[in-house]
Amino acid sequence: MKKYLVDDTAYYVNAKGAGPILLFAHGFPFDGRLYEEAIDRLASRFYCVVPDLRGFGQTPLGSNGHNSLGYPRVKMGRFADDLAILGAEIACERGCKGSKVFLCGLSMGGYILLEFARRRPQMLQGMIFCDSNATADPPEKAAGRVYLAETIDSFGVHTLADNMIPNLLSPHTNKEKTEVVSKLREMITSQSPQGIAAGARGMSVRRNLVDLLPTIDVPTLVLGGEDDKLSPPELLDGIAAAIPNAQRATVSKAGHLPPLENPEEFADAILNWHSSVSWPK
Ligand code: MLT
Repeated sequence: MKKYLVDDTAYYVNAKGAGPILLFAHGFPFDGRLYEEAIDRLASRFYCVVPDLRGFGQTPLGSNGHNSLGYPRVKMGRFADDLAILGAEIACERGCKGSKVFLCGLSMGGYILLEFARRRPQMLQGMIFCDSNATADPPEKAAGRVYLAETIDSFGVHTLADNMIPNLLSPHTNKEKTEVVSKLREMITSQSPQGIAAGARGMSVRRNLVDLLPTIDVPTLVLGGEDDKLSPPELLDGIAAAIPNAQRATVSKAGHLPPLENPEEFADAILNWHSSVSWPK
């Protein structure tokens, strides 16, 4: 893992490959390991940059990972700003200062991706929006996230993993891919309660960005697992229809986490999309 100073924290990053920079934003409550297998395949086309986001994996929450009352909270805009700083730093390091980047975000990473598109459209070359949505949380859902943030210390990451895993994975993964189920459990249970609380509070106050979708003017791939219960195919069809220039692809034998459940097909969908678009030289 490489380490980059981003504002007030040290971002831990798994980076590999050659070509244009493709930044990844993982979902909640995971870390960069979500994309580990997929980037092996994508590294032939892109310089893949997979950070553990602030508060997750090895990246500390930092002093800016709290709200004004001192409770852990990272808003989606803060994550997006972190990625912009990281992307700019890596572009400099690779001798392409100021160049645009590709960005792939899954679920919470998709919320971050939309915030990035709202704040820094000029930095984006193209986007891959996975298993996510563009709306804000309805009040009960937002309240549930605050409750999670307040109680995670006492009920613990193992209970969280037990509650989440059956809904995250496709029936195929749950039944046939025990190694994927174990990896996911390990990823969730290794997160810090503080980071989980910060991400949960951050998602609870995210903006409704539905009106942003028709204004997105970079090539976009909307990608999702065929068995995703949290952001089902019909929802992603609607998002793809709302974004001009978007392509839509579905990953078979995958639920909410295609890069973990079917990394080959996930990566191939991105490679096929990238090949199908004529990019400015
Ligand atoms: C994720 O995978 O990031 C979560 O499902 C996002 C959410 O809880 O809305």
